[in-house]
Amino acid sequence: MVPLTRAPGRESDRLRFVEVPRGHPGATLAEAVRTGLGSSPKTLPSLFFYDDEGSALFDLITQLPEYTPTRCELEILQASANEIVRSVHGPCEIVEFGSGSGVKTRTLIEAALGRQGSLQYVPIDVSGDYLRASAAALLADYPELEVTALAAEYRDGLAALPPTDRPRLVTFMGSNLGNMEFCEAAQFLGDVRAAMGPHDRLLLGVDLVKDTDTVWAAYNDRAGVTERFNKNVLARVNRELGADFDLEAFGHWAPYVPGKDRIEMHLVARREAVVRVEALGETYRFEAGESVRTEISQKYTLESLQATCLVGGFGIERVWHDRQGWFAVALCRPVA
Ligand SMILES: C[S@@+](CC[C@H](N)C(=O)[O-])C[C@H]1O[C@@H](n2cnc3c(N)ncnc32)[C@H](O)[C@@H]1O
Repeated sequence: MVPLTRAPGRESDRLRFVEVPRGHPGATLAEAVRTGLGSSPKTLPSLFFYDDEGSALFDLITQLPEYTPTRCELEILQASANEIVRSVHGPCEIVEFGSGSGVKTRTLIEAALGRQGSLQYVPIDVSGDYLRASAAALLADYPELEVTALAAEYRDGLAALPPTDRPRLVTFMGSNLGNMEFCEAAQFLGDVRAAMGPHDRLLLGVDLVKDTDTVWAAYNDRAGVTERFNKNVLARVNRELGADFDLEAFGHWAPYVPGKDRIEMHLVARREAVVRVEALGETYRFEAGESVRTEISQKYTLESLQATCLVGGFGIERVWHDRQGWFAVALCRPVA
């Protein structure tokens, strides 16, 4: 059992950084490009936005006036972090999927440290260098914190969680769940549920259905940061797989799809294009106007969230909203 209070150690002694090998088919950029650009309609998974450059661009997005989810979720966490942490029985450990900069997580870390003196935090993120930097920043600011950082895809990270005898608060914030189709989200929650004990709790942050202009503006900012973020996936294919995408030949398109209550992000060929991906020995053709779908961002209602959680094996214990009712943070308990 980890003692509840101890003398603060050096930052490097309090960090364990683990690069977890990719463990399932389609998990590498090369495999995703081969499958996604070889199919019709063309797609690329959103996780490949995130290298150092993509993570930095996402952080800029969170500061844009149009991007409401981060501010709303932070407002909720600032008001409720103590209550959230207290809802886990006894001193806990915090696990976070898709941790990013960890800025919002600080509210939970501070609440847990205030309650129990020390804390083990396990962030899981595919953007390895960024994860290392954010872990270092947290360790510098919180001498009583220990971090086991897993540079991993979500499912690989889940399989590599270090054992603990403390209950876990497992967090999945930033509306990351919305990047999955409903059935994929329920399946992912089911995998998380299978790794959880009866005293563990899941904290989900989801962006809610709201007026479509507000949602649309968040993915179509005037400064063009989201466009740069979207195109980073093509830039990565150029950098890492020796492709010759002309980024100017593709446009950012992020429509709101009303029947599905979601934003879809696409890159649309402005003219006919032929792209060589050297590392794959493949050439891909794009018609003028043809799109590559790069992300979905599902907006939830409380009903659709409840249904997705239930299929994934969770019951919702408590929900917090921001003042505008645009975002929800839900505390979920595993059900049998
Ligand atoms: C939308 S950002 C949210 C970051 C942070 N949670 C927040 O709320 O600001 C998504 C984060 O999850 C990570 N990510 C996305 N897909 C992932 C996957 N399949 N496996 C692991 N990490 C992933 C990205 O690197 C990024 O840091």
